[in-house]
Amino acid sequence: MTPDELKKAAALAALTHIKSGMKLGLGTGSTAKHFVDAVGEKVKQGWDLLCVPTSEATRKQAEGLGIKLTTLDETPVLDLTVDGADELDGQLRLIKGGGGALLREKIVASSSRKMIVIADASKKVEVLGKFPLPVEVVPFGLKATAIKIDQAFTWTRNEGKVALRMRDGKSFVTDNGNVILDCALGRIENADKLAAALSSIPGVVDHGLFIGMASLAIIAGAAGVETLER
Ligand code: A5P
Repeated sequence: MTPDELKKAAALAALTHIKSGMKLGLGTGSTAKHFVDAVGEKVKQGWDLLCVPTSEATRKQAEGLGIKLTTLDETPVLDLTVDGADELDGQLRLIKGGGGALLREKIVASSSRKMIVIADASKKVEVLGKFPLPVEVVPFGLKATAIKIDQAFTWTRNEGKVALRMRDGKSFVTDNGNVILDCALGRIENADKLAAALSSIPGVVDHGLFIGMASLAIIAGAAGVETLER
């Protein structure tokens, strides 16, 4: 199977966790896109689902599929969010934000009774950090914030390079009007402590470490689909 077929297999396996009447958070990225397509199919079959998208890209996709959308202002508590990840470890700690949607993804997942991660097996790692950690930052005071982020790395015994995410020669701008610093750490030490340290920096809006949020991972690999629970 190709990596995309594996992503689709994980996404379809997540369907067994939804039923008509649910309020769902819809993730962002190439894996979540398969899940949103599958939700669209269920809606065509007559299922009643009310969904909150985690990005403008997902909103557009869902609208195109005729999925009924709401907002967290109208519907502040969701039953379930299904989303992809850039990395996950054995404790279901995640790195997210490769697609730049980490802030809305975290807000939506934290407003859901349950979060399920869907991924192909390449995303499962022993230690988080090979994938550069995205940190969403307000553009004002960027350099000063980057220095504080670097200090947070030192304080938590991490080390690595911080790079402003670019797209088409300009800084990448998130759906929320912020920019992203991708932090190449190689191996994240003290992930919990690092998450707290980053969250306490003025100017950091949020970071891609999702800790204690996902309770189930559905991972598709060459040998089939496996689940990991926390
Ligand atoms: C979006 O910002 C991300 O958090 C995605 O969920 C993550 O990058 C996984 O994306 P893929 O499913 O495309 O690998």
